[in-house]
This record gives sequence, structure tokens and C-alpha cells, in this order.
Amino acid sequence: MLSACAQVSRGTTPTTLAPIPTLKQPCTRSQIFPDEWASDILHMTTVWLDVGIDTDLEPGDMKRLDIGREPVLLANVEGTIVAVADTCTHEDASLSGGALDGVFVRCPLHGSRFCLLDGKAVDDPAEIDLKTFPIRIEHGRILIELSR
Ligand code: FES
Repeated sequence: MLSACAQVSRGTTPTTLAPIPTLKQPCTRSQIFPDEWASDILHMTTVWLDVGIDTDLEPGDMKRLDIGREPVLLANVEGTIVAVADTCTHEDASLSGGALDGVFVRCPLHGSRFCLLDGKAVDDPAEIDLKTFPIRIEHGRILIELSR
């Protein structure tokens, strides 16, 4: 048997519309999105976070930002603002305590260098690249894209 909507789409006018079914129990969130989907959906959310004025970070400066799930290293590389994960991939040292050397940051603990433009680990002992974060400058403000 066709539903009322199907009859309308065939050009006939139904004399009576089917009643809207009532729920026997309230609809819970887990019926709409199973709980195992919830964290995946949240991971896809993108946020542009305002972290300050671009002129506060002079070429050659870098600073650590404690935002989001992991600290971020914000640096001005020859006039370009970049953001990478602040934690060294070797043994968890904060790269903000290291030295900026051109487009590289040198880890203060064992000396591995990472390229700040693409996060690549270029020296041992670190072998894993740093996560990078997209940056946008709007009206003189630095915006970092974070996924949550
Ligand atoms: S902790 Fe950075 S190189 Fe070892």
C-alpha cells in the first residue's frame, strides 16, 4: 500500500492523511547518533582560534601556546607566522625552550632540528615529524586552525 506522500507525487489528492505516529518513548541522543559516532563527529569540527596580534611576534621570535589538546609552538620565520606542535617527538621536550635557526627549531634536550614550514624532523634522534597547524592572518590577528 502506498503512503500519502506517494499518492500526492502521482498527482492524486489524498482524502485523508496518515496520522503522524507518536513516539512511545522519548528519543535519546544515542538513538540519533550512536555514542561511538560522537567522538568521530567532534573530531571533524574545525575551529579558528584567535591567538593574538601578528606584530607581537617579530621575525625570529617564537612562543608556546597552551591551547587545545596539545601545546602549540608559534613562530615568526623570516616574516611568515607558522604553528607546529610544541612537544618534541623524541622525548617530549618543549621546543619553545629550544633555538630558532632560520626555518628550523632545535630541540633543547638532544638537539634534533625540525623544519617549521612542514614539521619534518631533519636530525636524529627524533624521527617523527611534528604536527603542523594552518595559520590565517585576518585584520592583523593570528588565527590557528584547531580540530576538536
Ligand atoms: S627530546 Fe627532543 S631530541 Fe630528544
